Amino acid sequence: MQPIISIEGIGKTYAGGFTALKSVDLDIKQGEIFALLGPNGAGKTTLISIVCGIVNPTSGRVTADGHDIQRDFRAARSKIGLVPQELSTDSFESVWNTVSFSRGLFGKAPNPEYIEKILRQLSLWEKKDSKIMALSGGMKRRVMIAKALSHEPSILFLDEPTAGVDVELRRDMWEMVRGLRENGVTVILTTHYIEEAEEMADRIGVINHGELVLVEEKHTLMRKLGKKQLTIHLQNPVSDLPAGLGEFALELSDEGNQLVYTFDTQREHTGIAELLRALNQQGIEFKDLHSSESSLEEIFVNLVHQNQNARQQAG
Ligand SMILES: Nc1ncnc2c1ncn2[C@@H]1O[C@H](COP(=O)(O)OP(=O)(O)OP(=O)(O)O)[C@@H](O)[C@H]1O
Ligand SMILES: [Mg+2]
Repeated sequence: MQPIISIEGIGKTYAGGFTALKSVDLDIKQGEIFALLGPNGAGKTTLISIVCGIVNPTSGRVTADGHDIQRDFRAARSKIGLVPQELSTDSFESVWNTVSFSRGLFGKAPNPEYIEKILRQLSLWEKKDSKIMALSGGMKRRVMIAKALSHEPSILFLDEPTAGVDVELRRDMWEMVRGLRENGVTVILTTHYIEEAEEMADRIGVINHGELVLVEEKHTLMRKLGKKQLTIHLQNPVSDLPAGLGEFALELSDEGNQLVYTFDTQREHTGIAELLRALNQQGIEFKDLHSSESSLEEIFVNLVHQNQNARQQAG
């Protein structure tokens, strides 16, 4: 299937000479939720701004739903809704007018039923006559989402949609995003809450220093790079790692009450049977075993570190 967004060799050097993007290639599939992760300054907003036609790329080419974003800007942009990272919301206008006006900007005929539907979905209906400036921060963010959806885009960019949003509203937003996907909308989001990507995304891209260092299905990523840990709760605490267990990747924790064994989920042979046998031979008794898998957060932090180290070694 044709990708809904195709990014080829996109580079960006800002006027001051700073290169924010090197040469990014990325295809977004129709109907997926794609999470773009990366530390502050990695280039996420720059990439989104290029796709949305706000920033001109220095090199490369982007098409959205088959339309070249530069040559065929209006057609491409009409497919796209954008919720920017920076909110510009000190307006005296009402919620209703703001959202309706936004739809009009894209040349769409008025559709009060549709506007009502999105305001209700975003729990903004009660506030439809309030001035934007009189809303709370989280409500303003929801108005930005309503604006972005006002012209019925098939692609939605959410640049840190849940920054500063409370837990309950965050869950509501996840629900809403899933609902959009069910209606066939493709969603690209950036977030610093990795649990958000873990919860929502079909695929994950990691960007660091203007380079896309990884793009992977979330499940594959977690399986490939995930580590499992087996925690062994000891009957009696020990002060040092028992000598006979040197060959295992063990750590002592909880003041000598626990042994933590880390192993690769990819490896066929986990070594758990040998470890338990060795414990037995050493006469170390345990009262409980407990295993856990690394979160996307840990995977992500590792990736960015590895990338940083590789960059330093390369000079
Ligand atoms: N208009 C600009 N002029 C010069 N440099 C810029 C401009 N906009 C962004 N940059 C630089 O480009 C780099 C990438 O910025 P960008 O906003 O894309 O990062 P980001 O990944 O979105 O970060 P964050 O997680 O903080 O939102 C940063 O070093 C930033 O300082
Ligand atoms: Mg940003």
